[in-house]
Amino acid sequence: MSADRSGTASLPLPPGQSGLPWIGETISFIADPDFATKRRQKYGAIFRTHIIGRPTVVMSGAAANKFILSTHFDKFSWRDGWPDNFKELLGASLFLQEGAEHQRNRRLLMPAFHGKALVNYVETMTEITDLYLTKWEQIGDLTWFPELKNLTFEIASILLIGSEPGAETTELSRLFTELTNGLFTIPVKWSYTTYGRALVARDKILNHIDRVVLERQQTPTQDALGLLVQSQDEAGNQLSIAELKVQALLLLFAGHETTTSLVASLCLALAQHPEVLAQARAEQVQIGVDRPITIDSLKQMTYLDRVLREVERMYPPIGGGFRGVVEEFEFNGYRVPKGWQVLYRIPEAHFDAAVYPQPESFDPDRPIDKGSDYNFVTYGGGSRICIGMAFAQMELKIIAAMLLRRNSWELLPNQNLTLDPIPTLHPRDGLKVKFQKL
Ligand code: HEM
Repeated sequence: MSADRSGTASLPLPPGQSGLPWIGETISFIADPDFATKRRQKYGAIFRTHIIGRPTVVMSGAAANKFILSTHFDKFSWRDGWPDNFKELLGASLFLQEGAEHQRNRRLLMPAFHGKALVNYVETMTEITDLYLTKWEQIGDLTWFPELKNLTFEIASILLIGSEPGAETTELSRLFTELTNGLFTIPVKWSYTTYGRALVARDKILNHIDRVVLERQQTPTQDALGLLVQSQDEAGNQLSIAELKVQALLLLFAGHETTTSLVASLCLALAQHPEVLAQARAEQVQIGVDRPITIDSLKQMTYLDRVLREVERMYPPIGGGFRGVVEEFEFNGYRVPKGWQVLYRIPEAHFDAAVYPQPESFDPDRPIDKGSDYNFVTYGGGSRICIGMAFAQMELKIIAAMLLRRNSWELLPNQNLTLDPIPTLHPRDGLKVKFQKL
């Protein structure tokens, strides 16, 4: 699909519109959940727009995903895909690194997210979930989404940045909200502006991590930060304290909103499909609802795997990923110039009827398509696929299994169940449920 430069120069730009001067189509992009789908129907797998201050090309479908995430990976920059606020607030962390530096750091972070490390997280995840289920049983009628967010934040902050449950985690959660508020605001650095407060919050969280890293250096532990302090590659490279701090902060940022979104979508889908819920619960009964949750018992939950995979297909938390174009390229007969921005889209490939017949129906029994993996990109793909995928999937499965074993939930009337896509897919009214112990 690519062409040499002389061949590319004569090709047309992709079809589409640039919208209003300066703001382009940014407002529709943020406000209209069907922004990309409508334009894909009109223009096809590649179209041009102008969002977040830059000429942008949106590409969707499995072929586009494969092009960006794998075969033509070198034509794109991650770093250039992120707005400047991210660069300042999230520092020199994996999202903003490329090439050899990225590969080195990814290798050093990896041991905290795979194999043996995950085994050690099961107990913490189970204990925290247990406390939240008890709390929700006492509340009864609740707006679930913010509560789910507290749960996943607590799991992430305890495992990833070593916070203590209780007041410390609550304070970190508050600081973290201030930090994220700064990601999408005008970067004016006065003490009373949103951005100024975000910078202060960032420094306070980094100070906290600094202190915990020093503790972990004295006394090694099995949480992610403890493992990262010890992590070393075959050449003897280690993350410095300064590197560890920003990487841990990024992991906290990347690691909980997305998971919250999938847990909420799972709860919604199960409430809307009682037959699936009954079968998933029957599996838990068969495994033994009083048996502790372990890595081995999680492996036995094969129907739950299918349910979660279908939730991941139908409700991907992130709509896509931005990249900067570092070298002009051709796709489907169109030319995309260097310096533009590209957005690859996740949901469109998941709703391709040729791969997933009746894609709008929630069907955990549908065959899992393993052949064309770029039709399933909930966690991205290629060499920069989500580093926390196994962590997130395990967390999701533990929460799901515990809910199925122990609770029932009914959707309360008079709520808007529309799922809004930005910043991550979430129910507009926060998912109001009647929550009970079985
Ligand atoms: C359901 C939960 C999650 C979803 C849906 C998700 C989704 C994604 C996606 C789509 C990407 C690639 C973005 C792109 O190509 O532009 C990504 C990358 C990444 N994710 Fe996740 N993520 C989840 C959970 C986590 C967790 C739990 C962590 C860490 C604890 C994490 C850390 C990261 C990091 C560090 C990257 C960048 C990897 C790199 O550049 O090498 N994510 N994630």
